[in-house]
Amino acid sequence: MDARPFEVRLATAADLTFIDHLQKRHGDQVGFLATDTLRANLLKGNVWIGFENGQPGGYVLGKPWYRGKETDAIVFQACVQFDAQRRQLGWCLVERFLGSLPAYTRRCSCWCAQDIEANFFWQAIDFLPLAYRAGGHSKGRVHIYWQRLLNQEAGACDNSYPSSTAGGAMKACRTVHRLEPGHRWDAVVRPADTADVRTNAMEGGSQEDVNLPCRRERKRVQRVVTTVHEPRLPKDMAERAKWFQQKHLGHGLIVAGRARPLPRIG
Ligand SMILES: CC(C)(COP(=O)(O)OP(=O)(O)OC[C@H]1O[C@@H](n2cnc3c(N)ncnc32)[C@H](O)[C@@H]1OP(=O)(O)O)[C@@H](O)C(=O)NCCC(=O)NCCS
Repeated sequence: MDARPFEVRLATAADLTFIDHLQKRHGDQVGFLATDTLRANLLKGNVWIGFENGQPGGYVLGKPWYRGKETDAIVFQACVQFDAQRRQLGWCLVERFLGSLPAYTRRCSCWCAQDIEANFFWQAIDFLPLAYRAGGHSKGRVHIYWQRLLNQEAGACDNSYPSSTAGGAMKACRTVHRLEPGHRWDAVVRPADTADVRTNAMEGGSQEDVNLPCRRERKRVQRVVTTVHEPRLPKDMAERAKWFQQKHLGHGLIVAGRARPLPRIG
């Protein structure tokens, strides 16, 4: 593909309005990011913006690590204005993002809803469809997992995909299913959300993820369990004494202005 003379640079906080506007225009295709999240990504240097004739035309937002691995990167959003599409700006932006990744990065991935044209874009720029998962319930979508290997001359590595994901807009644990060789990404049907992650990992998902379902989900449950607090003590001293009396069946006492339980006898 011929690269046109686009100007592509790291986006700054001054580009926030354009980026936020564009993600909203393509709300059905790209996952929504809150303004604070966009701003944080701009500050971290995760967003590249492209200009044609001095006018902003699109951006790509990605991260240099994914699934806790610094060798894996991800593109969260790629967006080009309607009137600038099909002129290789999207391709230019993704290449620039990939070029900015450290030399030890081996894979770049992205999730894309199965029913949108952007899948043809990822296919055209050498990403491979590897796996899929259930998308949001309301639209009954399927998400396709695309990946491109990078820096293979520095050490070959295989394609790989997570056995489950816990994030995304759904904030739910979802099993990721392998796209069997020869199966087309546009032919897979929406899987049930609750399949056994261990079985899937053994079928070809990353073995590092075999101890899931969903580390993040498990941590969340642990957090909920460990943050069950005692009720707060009332501020008013009389109320406090009453509280202790109820709690300790009449063994409450005010000592030096503070409510204390009496030691239990026997
Ligand atoms: C996907 C998107 C970023 C691509 O940007 P773009 O600048 O239009 O794409 P490019 O011109 O760089 O396309 C490169 C190649 O990808 C393929 N391609 C891109 N868009 C395509 C489409 N709609 N249908 C089929 N092939 C497409 C073509 O092979 C194209 O080369 P060609 O035009 O010479 O045939 C842009 O269409 C977009 O912003 N879409 C809406 C938001 C979106 O869907 N984002 C991705 C979410 S995962």
